Amino acid sequence: MTLHAPRDEHPSQDFVFCVFTQAVRESILKTTPSSVAIKVPSAYSKMVYQVVVALYNNTFFRKVICQIVCLTAQKPWINIAAMKSYKHKAVEAAQFLKDHIEKLPQIGLLTGTGLGESATALDISLSFEYKDIPHFPATTVESHFGKLLFGSIRDKPIIAMQGRFHLYEGYSPLEVTFPVRVMQELGVKTLILSNAAGGLSPRLQTGDLMIIADHINLTGSNPLVGPNEESWGARFPDMTEAYDKKLITLAENAGKDAGIRLHKGVYAGLQGPSLETPAEIRFLQTIGADAVGFSTIQEVIAAVHADMQVLGLSIITNVHDPLAPTPAVVEEIIAVANSAAPKLATIIRQVAIKI
Ligand code: HPA
Repeated sequence: MTLHAPRDEHPSQDFVFCVFTQAVRESILKTTPSSVAIKVPSAYSKMVYQVVVALYNNTFFRKVICQIVCLTAQKPWINIAAMKSYKHKAVEAAQFLKDHIEKLPQIGLLTGTGLGESATALDISLSFEYKDIPHFPATTVESHFGKLLFGSIRDKPIIAMQGRFHLYEGYSPLEVTFPVRVMQELGVKTLILSNAAGGLSPRLQTGDLMIIADHINLTGSNPLVGPNEESWGARFPDMTEAYDKKLITLAENAGKDAGIRLHKGVYAGLQGPSLETPAEIRFLQTIGADAVGFSTIQEVIAAVHADMQVLGLSIITNVHDPLAPTPAVVEEIIAVANSAAPKLATIIRQVAIKI
């Protein structure tokens, strides 16, 4: 369990948050919401937080706290408070950014493993460390990048998230999608996501790029679970065209113009972090997945809910053959992602210019 302190520098925040990691949720809470907000007057929030932390460090009280949260997390009013405060946090983070930037971004970029460099598609004018943005989740050791960049591509204002949050790091679906909500609050209309993925289709080779035409959510999570924030989107967002056809065509054309081979296929999203067994690979191939990875799905669902146009691009960093299974080496995956990043940057740049 991670406890997030109320921030002194943002005194308007009058909530103390106890945010439970995926592990705690799964082992203790089963299917309860990922965060619980305890409303206290802002003057006392720091003190309440300190008391909770002090008690939490004691094994006995930790169990008691977990039990209390287990019980209270079932209560709908707590759920609603958590969702309201989540929106309130996204609005505050967006306001902080609005106070610093000159132009509101139209396009959002979310880059993944080893792909932080694809932000070179961008002429950067301003950057923020995640830790300096109110309410932004803190990065874990696994996240090498932790910066929010503002810049432009041919005068088109862009916001780029260099390094994202994954479910497998213990972030909740709401934390993973927090940056998308901040982008929504800033008025972003188009979201371009990139990720590293394992190839499942025999058509794919290591180092190839794949445009995501559709996805299969096998993460067991969804960022829209809980009360719907009506001001953000519909209760049951339609997913028949989650990945925008016009953007796909723009990407295909960009690939042709630049002589970059692009595939199109279905991305299966798992929670991770363990890689796929040969039986899982066969299963994923059978259900129609062309590539597999541990990211993107949550953000795309939030972006569709937010009525954004979405483009997803995967770098195929390794190819799975269930008949001749070979261990995936993380260092190799990162190296392939890094070396394919310039191709990705070219596609992103050309698409952004044409939007
Ligand atoms: N599986 C899951 N995620 C990945 C893979 C993979 O094989 N390669 C790169 N990201």
